Order: sequence, then C-alpha cells, then structure tokens
Amino acid sequence: MKTTIKKAILPAAGLGTRFLPATKASPKEMLPIVDKPLIQYAVEESISCGIEDFIIITGKYKRAIEDHFDTAYRLEEKLRTSGKEKILKELNKLNHINLAYIRQRVPMGLGHAILCAKPFVKNEPFVVILSDDVIDPEYPLLQEMIKIYEKKKCPVIALEEVPRSEVNRYGIIDGRQEGNMYRINNLVEKPKPEKSPSNLAIIGRYILTPEIFNILEKQKPGAGGEIQLTDALKSLVKKTPIYGYLIKGKRYDAGDKLGYLKATVDFALKNRELSGDFKKYLIEKIEKLR
Ligand code: G1P
Repeated sequence: MKTTIKKAILPAAGLGTRFLPATKASPKEMLPIVDKPLIQYAVEESISCGIEDFIIITGKYKRAIEDHFDTAYRLEEKLRTSGKEKILKELNKLNHINLAYIRQRVPMGLGHAILCAKPFVKNEPFVVILSDDVIDPEYPLLQEMIKIYEKKKCPVIALEEVPRSEVNRYGIIDGRQEGNMYRINNLVEKPKPEKSPSNLAIIGRYILTPEIFNILEKQKPGAGGEIQLTDALKSLVKKTPIYGYLIKGKRYDAGDKLGYLKATVDFALKNRELSGDFKKYLIEKIEKLR
C-alpha cells in the first residue's frame, strides 16, 4: 500500500500488571499467541501498510524485545546445518525493517512514552500501535485508517463500542457520525460509566500528526497520575479535526487474561498446522464440560 506514513511508534514500557507474575521479569509484549509474540503481530500489521521504520519505547526488563528482533547467529547456524530452512526463513523475514529503541526512564504513561519518540519522528505523521490490542490479521484496520488519513490529513483513531460497564478501562470519545467515521469533539480517559460521554472506546491504533508533541510537552498528569495521550488529544481536537474509525473486524485485549485466551484459541484455530488437532481437542473438551 502507498502511504506517506513511514514510521510506527510501539510503546512497550508498561509494567504489565494485569499479567503478573508472568510479566515480572519479561515484557508483556513478548507474550506469545501461538508462536509469535504480541509485538511481532504489531510489527507485521504495520509492514502490511508499507511502514518499515519502527521506534520501540522500552523500559526496565524489556531487553528480550531487542533480542527478539536481533540476529541469533548460533541458532541460525544450527537451523542451517540441520536443514530447517523453513523456520530459518520465518526467523529472517523481518530482517529488512529499521528498528530504534528508546528507553522511557520513568513509567509516566502513554503520552510520555510517545513524547520520548519526538526527536526521531520530527515533522512527520506517524502510527502508534499498542501491541496488547491484537487485531485479527485478516482484517486490514490500519490500512483503512491510513486511507482516511491520506484523504483528510488529520489524526485518525480506532474506535470500538464497549459495554457501558467497561468504559472506565478506556479512553472514550464524544463525536458526530459522518459516514463510516466519527468527527470527534471530546475525549475522556477512563471515565466513570455514569459520567462517560459515550461507549465508543479508543483502541490501540492511532495515526497522529507531529503537533501532538508540543501539547504532550506541556501536558499535566491525568488519570492514574500519568501523562495521558487522550488528554493531549482532547487539547488537539480544539485546534484540528480528529476522526474516529469504528473497527469492523475482531479485536482482542491480549493484555487481559481472558482476552489473551480468546486470541490464543482463535489464532490456533486458524493455524494451518494446529487447527485440525486443536479443534478436535476443543470439541472433546466442550462435550465433557456439558
Ligand atoms: C490506553 C489508552 C486508552 C485506550 C487503551 C486502548 O490505556 O490510555 O485511552 O483506550 O490504551 O487499549 P491502557 O490500556 O494503557 O490503560
């Protein structure tokens, strides 16, 4: 796909508290769904849109991410000499991408994580992907958002309708529907259900323009005492249009145990090598549970 967007920021400095103790010493972004870590799904989704420059915002205990995208000489040599060319090819398929790692020294929130990338993004539009929001790879959400960006040249945010009782887990927007989009007029980070302007939740895919950096630089801490991207967008929408795009495919909250299990089951059922046996196992299991 042809796009003027070249860079993706992948925040990966969060503490992953919902997945402790698994995420005590290893990053949440490295949790695998079937055979690939969450962050690799995010990278592959961006590559399918023509993005090849990645800025990964890391923190303490996140070195495994760098190792994952690095060359593993010994392992590769072993695979080569034992004729495992197929796995070798799979391991090397991301070798062409450009990766930069920035360490967020203090866990000050998503807005602060994005701000850390400012010196490397400069004056370009960019994509932000939150790896724990996993999108079904068959559904080209990011491509659809990029098409809107190329037409409007304004920030575009992915949205999903969530139950009212869950709005306090998300950034929520208020907006007016315009065709298949929402023209956003307000955003609130993790509102109480009774105070929420809608049930349209922000999902971890954003196309942003560099003006956001100037706002983030002055942004005061918001919900949870953190510098929130949603709060910066709330200021930005007063100056420039921001569009919301309601997702049409499946999204999994893989940062949550139940969402992670659902993603694992669905991805395993679509996996060519596993699906037959796994389906058989699930059917037997369900019969026993009845
Ligand atoms: C972040 C954002 C929130 C958004 C959510 C999507 O929250 O701050 O606005 O709705 O991602 O997953 P977090 O999940 O990091 O608490």
